[in-house]
Amino acid sequence: GDLYRPARRNSRGVELGHHASLTALHAEVTRAGAAPAAAAPIIDGTAQGGPSRQVASLFDPGVVAGTVVEADVAIADRAVDAAAAGFTTWCSASAAQRAKALRRAADLIEAQRARLIHLLAVEAGKTIDDAIAEIREAVDFCRYYAAEGEALFGAELGLPGPTGESNTLRLRPRGVFVAISPWNFPLAIFIGQIAAALMAGNTVVAKPAEQTPLIAAETVRVLHGAGIPVSALQLVPGDGAIGARLVNHPAIAGVVFTGSYETARAINIALANRPGAILPLIAETGGINAMLVDSTALAEQVTDDVVTSAFRSAGQRCSALRLLCLQDDVADDIIAMIVGAARELRIGDPRDASTHIGPVIDEEAKARLDQHISQMKASARVHYAGTTPDVGHFVAPHVFELPQPADLGQEVFGPVLHVVRYRGDDLERTLQAIAASGYGLTFGLHSRISQLVDRVGRLPIGNIYVNRNMIGAVVGVQPFGGCGLSGTGPKAGGPHYLARFATEQTLTINT
Ligand code: NAD
Ligand code: ALA
Repeated sequence: GDLYRPARRNSRGVELGHHASLTALHAEVTRAGAAPAAAAPIIDGTAQGGPSRQVASLFDPGVVAGTVVEADVAIADRAVDAAAAGFTTWCSASAAQRAKALRRAADLIEAQRARLIHLLAVEAGKTIDDAIAEIREAVDFCRYYAAEGEALFGAELGLPGPTGESNTLRLRPRGVFVAISPWNFPLAIFIGQIAAALMAGNTVVAKPAEQTPLIAAETVRVLHGAGIPVSALQLVPGDGAIGARLVNHPAIAGVVFTGSYETARAINIALANRPGAILPLIAETGGINAMLVDSTALAEQVTDDVVTSAFRSAGQRCSALRLLCLQDDVADDIIAMIVGAARELRIGDPRDASTHIGPVIDEEAKARLDQHISQMKASARVHYAGTTPDVGHFVAPHVFELPQPADLGQEVFGPVLHVVRYRGDDLERTLQAIAASGYGLTFGLHSRISQLVDRVGRLPIGNIYVNRNMIGAVVGVQPFGGCGLSGTGPKAGGPHYLARFATEQTLTINT
């Protein structure tokens, strides 16, 4: 079809290939990281006091990354009340005014890149290139929703009036949106949800993941500094119970959520049980993502794409590859190449540019992954078991082989690759087993057979990648999100997303 390109540009990258530019970036990040970080509930622009806790750097437990004051239920309730009071002003701002503030926020984020790289490393364990990619995605979300929203909300749609009436369709803001986000994209997903809800004219109460409040607070300060009124965006750091409190507040008009399937389901049930209006839930969740490789694939390219998809970001991407299905006649060679490449991966301090794999998010995540790895070592064929530094929440890459058809049962959120072999005459059964998980987030195919591309395109899966890796969707280029257990759609960074944050009104005037 025709190319769809709203007026905007994607954020530029950073040259990391030259020693001099890398050294300069390091110096900048170290300087920017010297100032202490702090998070607290922000209500109408004022940081709220309360008992504070210190957050340790993720890879250097002796170093304090910042201090955090968490919201209690009274603060959470006040945040919703404040956002409800702010709605009258923000919903009457024009689409152009809202877009201007988001574009300014994008510029400020780019200007604060060094500070954000520092925070993404210490609080979320992001490597330098992951941090840069995440900052670019955050900037892209702001500019993309600004451009999309100006077109969508800036004009009313005139409709035919065959009987002489005038008919107009217009999109209207809903009210207070609660935005609940995960720790694995603590900047990009956090700001993407907020930018979309604000662009549609809603006010927002943002609840970041309990693991990443420092980045969230920094981001809210940027948005306020960019011209988002303090009454339009309230910040409520806290755990899942605080999230649940917000979801049950009588003054909210909708929830946008990214995180696990289990939490999305709990929120859906809570919304269904509320008295009164039926509220929308926009939910993006996890997946048991598979890649299928047949005997026509290019082994070197497969190896590269598998290692990137399964191990980059320590496998802590919702899009990451979990289940690799190899046609049996090429399986041994490809497994050997993947193991060879996995051996080269360096695990350690994410601020070191030569590090490929940083820490996982916390002790709990490490314990869960370690337990899964022990189970696999007892029940599956072990192709590779990497080793980690002694200190810190590190999990090394692992490659296990399971009998086909494999049923992982649940999302394994770390650098653990599960491999199964399939026979060429058993392809359909393999595809059906993948679809049977009920998840539908990402899927990778390595094949030169065009009928197979057509077949895979009929799978109920949100993002399908052919002959490339399956992570790192780019805003406006690969709109992202799944179906089934993986989410409600529509896709973040895509042209159908913003309308879900609005209601529609038809105005008919008998002239
Ligand atoms: P999580 O579901 O544990 O937590 C997500 C957020 O929900 C957090 O802010 C948490 O405090 C909050 N929360 C927890 N219980 C709640 C409740 N009962 N009511 C309201 N809020 C509640 O997920 P996580 O561990 O932070 O993130 C990892 C998960 O996110 C993985 O499953 C991953 O696949 C998924 N994810 C999906 C996407 C996507 O775009 N589809 C992107 C990133 C992450
Ligand atoms: N949007 C992120 C990716 O595609 C999750 O990897």
